[in-house]
Amino acid sequence: MKLNLDRLVKPFPVFEKLDIQIERAAGCFVYDQQQQAYLDMYGGHAVIAVGHTHPHVVNSTLRQLNNIGFYSNTIYNDLQYQLANQLGLMSGYTDYAVFFSNSGAEANENAFKLASFFTGRAKVLTLSNAFHGRTSGTVSATDNTSLRARVNDNSHYFFTPFNELSSLRKQLETKAYCALIMEPIQGVGGIHVATDAFLQEVRAICTKTGTLLILDEIQSGYGRTGKFFAHQYAGIKGDLITVAKGIANGLPMAATIIAPDISPAMGQLGTTFGGNHLACAAAIAVLEVIHNEKLMANAAEVGTFLMKELSGMTGVTEVRGKGLMIGVEFDMDICQLRQKLLFDEKIFTGYAGVYTLRLLPPLCFTMEHAQLFLSSLKKLLGKNKW
Ligand SMILES: Cc1ncc(COP(=O)(O)O)c(C=O)c1O
Repeated sequence: MKLNLDRLVKPFPVFEKLDIQIERAAGCFVYDQQQQAYLDMYGGHAVIAVGHTHPHVVNSTLRQLNNIGFYSNTIYNDLQYQLANQLGLMSGYTDYAVFFSNSGAEANENAFKLASFFTGRAKVLTLSNAFHGRTSGTVSATDNTSLRARVNDNSHYFFTPFNELSSLRKQLETKAYCALIMEPIQGVGGIHVATDAFLQEVRAICTKTGTLLILDEIQSGYGRTGKFFAHQYAGIKGDLITVAKGIANGLPMAATIIAPDISPAMGQLGTTFGGNHLACAAAIAVLEVIHNEKLMANAAEVGTFLMKELSGMTGVTEVRGKGLMIGVEFDMDICQLRQKLLFDEKIFTGYAGVYTLRLLPPLCFTMEHAQLFLSSLKKLLGKNKW
């Protein structure tokens, strides 16, 4: 069935559309209406953590839906306790609390609010080239002016360069900031990795100045880099850690993970849908799969292999990232390369800007999948006649 684009009422356009309709998916592949398979190296913006339609996630979710999918947060929901506990154990944040919500932006908004309630301060320090979401507060924390409307102009937010300490230190020493927010690996900004030294120094300056450190692990977290959180490579801890994307393998869910000394007063945070039974059941199943199938070790192994192989390729100027969060920068505009990968080689990829391929495959991506991608890419780069 062809998509009818002539209907009167249309969805508001979000993102440039690839001319393709996906009908079903399994593991690392999606299938169009002619049952053509495509290798998914993007996971719908890093959302498909454990593979499409993973049977354990599907069965747990269906079972839950048949029992109860939703009731409000006015009752005890044991699934939230189970999930928070499992998340604490797997991430190493065993004494933190968890506030569940529905999207990455919401997780960050709530982190800002908590930091401000806790410190009594109003300002937020954020890094240039960051992306933290599109709601009013989070979009104020990005310096991409094309995303910000006048209503988002907000003097509480200030930008400082990535991987650079002097301006950051000067700002935080004013003690006017409730929080510094940063992605340990900038995703939308083009897969830029914060150095361990930068993360360690940021942690120390935040502690010294009474500023809360919000680590936005929405894209880089949940095992994607080979550790549960990317910042754990630097041996530091955040005061607030935000997660979303892969947490429920595609069901809308997010979480703000909160240090034990930040104890919110009742009513400071709230949500209708956040932490509902259905999303919790899916999220518990996701953690079980990550653990049982050793997906973090897999992400580290396959990611390291991919990065090494990609580094030597024609036209590649830089390969950045960790595990299965990879940016491949080329010496040319990659628009046509991505089109060829999709329509000739049947491979989905993402992008960041004009020159960088962004690879965020499911964490069950195997060496065979990697070989398939590499040989397709080599073939296209060898021809390079477009
Ligand atoms: C690092 C980061 N933070 C926040 C967000 C916003 O998440 P959501 O689109 O679920 O609101 C994103 C989304 O791409 C992201 O990559």
